Amino acid sequence: SQKRKVDETLSPFRLSHEQLQLVKARMRAGLEAGLKRKGSTAIKMLPSFVYRTPDGTEHGKYLALDLGGTNFRALLVNFKKGLQQNTRLHHKIYTIPLEIMQGTGEELFDHIVQCISDFLDYMGMKNARLPLGFTFSFPCRQTSLDAGILVTWTKGFKATDCEGEDVVGLLREAIKRREEFDLDVVAVVNDTVGTMMTCAYEEPTCEIGLIAGTGSNACYMEEMRNIEMIEGDEGRMCVNMEWGAFGDNGCLDDIRTEYDRAVDDFSLNPGKQRYEKMCSGMYLGEIVRNILIDMTKRGFLFRGQISETLKTRGIFETKFLSQIESDRLALLQVRSILQHLGLDSTCDDSIIVKEVCGTVSHRAAQLCGAGMAAVVDKIRENRGLDHLNITVGVDGTLYKLHPHFSRIMHQTVNELAPQCNVNFLLSEDGSGKGAALITAVGCRLRQELN
Ligand code: BG6
Ligand code: GLC
Repeated sequence: SQKRKVDETLSPFRLSHEQLQLVKARMRAGLEAGLKRKGSTAIKMLPSFVYRTPDGTEHGKYLALDLGGTNFRALLVNFKKGLQQNTRLHHKIYTIPLEIMQGTGEELFDHIVQCISDFLDYMGMKNARLPLGFTFSFPCRQTSLDAGILVTWTKGFKATDCEGEDVVGLLREAIKRREEFDLDVVAVVNDTVGTMMTCAYEEPTCEIGLIAGTGSNACYMEEMRNIEMIEGDEGRMCVNMEWGAFGDNGCLDDIRTEYDRAVDDFSLNPGKQRYEKMCSGMYLGEIVRNILIDMTKRGFLFRGQISETLKTRGIFETKFLSQIESDRLALLQVRSILQHLGLDSTCDDSIIVKEVCGTVSHRAAQLCGAGMAAVVDKIRENRGLDHLNITVGVDGTLYKLHPHFSRIMHQTVNELAPQCNVNFLLSEDGSGKGAALITAVGCRLRQELN
């Protein structure tokens, strides 16, 4: 029957407790490998040169740029010493057209500087030469706070001549080319690190950052003695895990489905970011679409008719999945959303579509939770504790908009890391504020050294 065929198709997405435990164990092994001197091609464990979370003494005015998520933003943040609640923040959102995301590096950085110019005009601050923190949400190999070589583009970006280059250098050159204003680029920051810092400013137990959005990634405070790439054994440093690349060495192949492989094959970066492609907003809709195509081909959906719409890549954005899965929505409304997308559905069709969406996002939340369980247990063991209390600062459209993702993810962490009490704190100001905090610390360090 139809019900049996649907169940058969979806069963590889339903992970058992044992499978999730395996995922956790593999994430742990993968992160340990990444911390070694020779590093790993999968989980990269990139040093951030951020040695501590904020202590409330940060003060002054800073600019921040936030590139790599749904929105590109420019921000001005003003911190008052010890008065977290009096922080002032101004920002403006800009778009990055697709042809710039996938054009030349020079065009991309010229566009960024054009947006900064507009923002400085808007704020009336063209002549200030402010310190700037650059949230750049891609894997960067840092050698200091203000130098980061782009390892590889991820998500929807593919501008030429950037991989292998220092992105701070590219930004400084673009500012020079424009000959209009000067800025002091102090720090390059991953969005996970920025989010951790934003949340830690309010909540000192926050020592982990998590993004469940367009992409998926985490960072946490690791012991210096465990980070082989960096000299010194004292204290801690925040490590940008780049966990999206988990599985790139094949270690998740037993749980990847044919639909995951199809999504990967037709992506901008085949073979890369395999875990991210199972967990994050940019890809969940594509997994759903591939399942729906297969079900239609096999004749038990959409009357066996594959419409042009269904063939269109990227039609199911995170916001549609979130709407379709909302419990408050009647089936008739699900049908009207599908109709809106150009998909003519019967009542039975809409039930199936909703089940497909639910199954794919449920697995995403569980996989993300299994990854986080590995991280919290690692921190607990680092500190030789039987029990750990810790806060994770979180951001991202999937976490924020999806009706079930956060709950299932939390639940999975609790089940797989019973010795940890993990509290999740949503970032209210994105990661730009955290980049500004890191910039403040960077400026102070520089003064102390001079
Ligand atoms: C916010 C940021 O914290 O979350 C972005 O300020 C980041 O830089 C984003 O990338 C992740 O969310 P999304 O869903 O927009 O990718
Ligand atoms: C991708 C990027 C990573 C970022 C994440 C979330 O995985 O490689 O740097 O943190 O997306 O935006």
